[in-house]
Amino acid sequence: MLRIAFLASELTPFAKTGGLADVAEALPRTLGKLGHDVRVFVPLYGSIDFAAHGLERVEVSTEGFALRKGVLPRSRVPVYFIDAPRFFAREAIYTNDEDEPFRFLFFCRAVIEACQHLAFPPEVFHLNDWQTALVPLLLKKARLFDSAKTLLTIHNLAYQGVFSADVANAIGARESKDGIVNFLETGLVHADLLSTVSPTYAEEIQTPEQGYGLDALLRRRRDELVGILNGVDYETWSPAKDTLIPFRYTEKNLDGKEQNKKALLKELSLSQLEDVPLVGMVTRLSAQKGLDLLVEALPELLSRESFTLVLLGTGEAPYEEFFASLQEHYPDRVCFYRGFHNPLAHWIEAAADMFLMPSRYEPCGLNQMYSLKYGTAPIVRKTGGLADSVKLFDPATGEGTGIVFEHFTADGLRWALGTALELYRDRPSWRRLVANGMAQDFSWERQAEAYVAIYRRLLQD
Ligand code: ADP
Ligand code: GLC
Repeated sequence: MLRIAFLASELTPFAKTGGLADVAEALPRTLGKLGHDVRVFVPLYGSIDFAAHGLERVEVSTEGFALRKGVLPRSRVPVYFIDAPRFFAREAIYTNDEDEPFRFLFFCRAVIEACQHLAFPPEVFHLNDWQTALVPLLLKKARLFDSAKTLLTIHNLAYQGVFSADVANAIGARESKDGIVNFLETGLVHADLLSTVSPTYAEEIQTPEQGYGLDALLRRRRDELVGILNGVDYETWSPAKDTLIPFRYTEKNLDGKEQNKKALLKELSLSQLEDVPLVGMVTRLSAQKGLDLLVEALPELLSRESFTLVLLGTGEAPYEEFFASLQEHYPDRVCFYRGFHNPLAHWIEAAADMFLMPSRYEPCGLNQMYSLKYGTAPIVRKTGGLADSVKLFDPATGEGTGIVFEHFTADGLRWALGTALELYRDRPSWRRLVANGMAQDFSWERQAEAYVAIYRRLLQD
């Protein structure tokens, strides 16, 4: 049994903007199931209703914060919330406020202090992204939990937490370069072991093209950098168990999928046309997600090909405007639902025939793995975790689970969508493709064992 402190800035079902929240829930839950003493730490954001979640106050005398405790749903894994209203009682998880670096510096410090008060000496501090990346340095400086090891998992190298030097004074001036402090870089230097969320991304981030200025450092530490693909929580994300979709179904009987599609088209006032596939997308609207390819290729593809599109997402204004205008042009065929809506995300997975993820880069990506289980053929670009989880379908052999395109170009996307639409008309091939996808198993059990193996490796060093 290992004692693990797991720190993250997002956690399903309490606070989520993307995949990190799902990982921070499912991985610790699985580690708990495997018998480890894992405890999760997150900030108590203003958007978290602690009364509704039944979070109780833990009686400890801490500096500048209170501690509240809950559990991860469907588990006994404790979740500790750092309750510091002056930093976290804001609606948004991430802000552009001046004190943004101090919010997460405070979080890192508070978790270390909380572990002391709880008489919980972690053997491993498992850190996730820049918001938690100062912990290794803080531990070293304060000479606390001497025998504990640190693992820093990179979920997205593009977000590094780069701030001007006033925060450097708070953590030690030596950590700043040219008046700049970089939280992630500091973590990548000081953590005992590094990981990221797919084997392919672990390679990609060592290249100048995808290293975001940190590739040299990552190359230097390549022997201490591991790529472990994320898993899927199939209790939440499978069509046979999903409580958020109108009709449940299994690979043996896909009638429910058809009913979900009909119901969604009706709900969104889209045309109900025989044999016309529904293409789904659920995403943060940021350049990472390959939206520029859609801006370039979609208007023409919609005029030429026969498909319906539903997109759920929110993010950068130019993309929101593009999709809004596309919807105006094609009110019967395009629905852009602007916002964050978890039940709708599930419904789209269940209702769509194809799921589009043309990412520029993708550390792991969860939706393509969800899509496979829902019998919704993923159309992905061959990058990061997408490359590791989807294999191009070959009608000649009947092998493969989706459509994979290589080059980040509008032509690449045109080819991929064209190929998918053609396959869709070839019913036997399509059925095979769907069945192959639904048979895939990306459950967390296996992936969590891979984490346990690296925790143990750390403790042996
Ligand atoms: P990323 O973490 O880069 O955003 P992932 O594919 O790893 O990408 O995870 C995205 C997660 O966030 C998925 O669970 C997806 O369903 C969810 N999601 C993204 N955008 C929305 C949205 N607008 N509404 C509901 N869920 C969303
Ligand atoms: C990041 C990445 C995404 C990954 C998620 C969870 O948000 O963009 O690819 O799946 O983290 O690890």
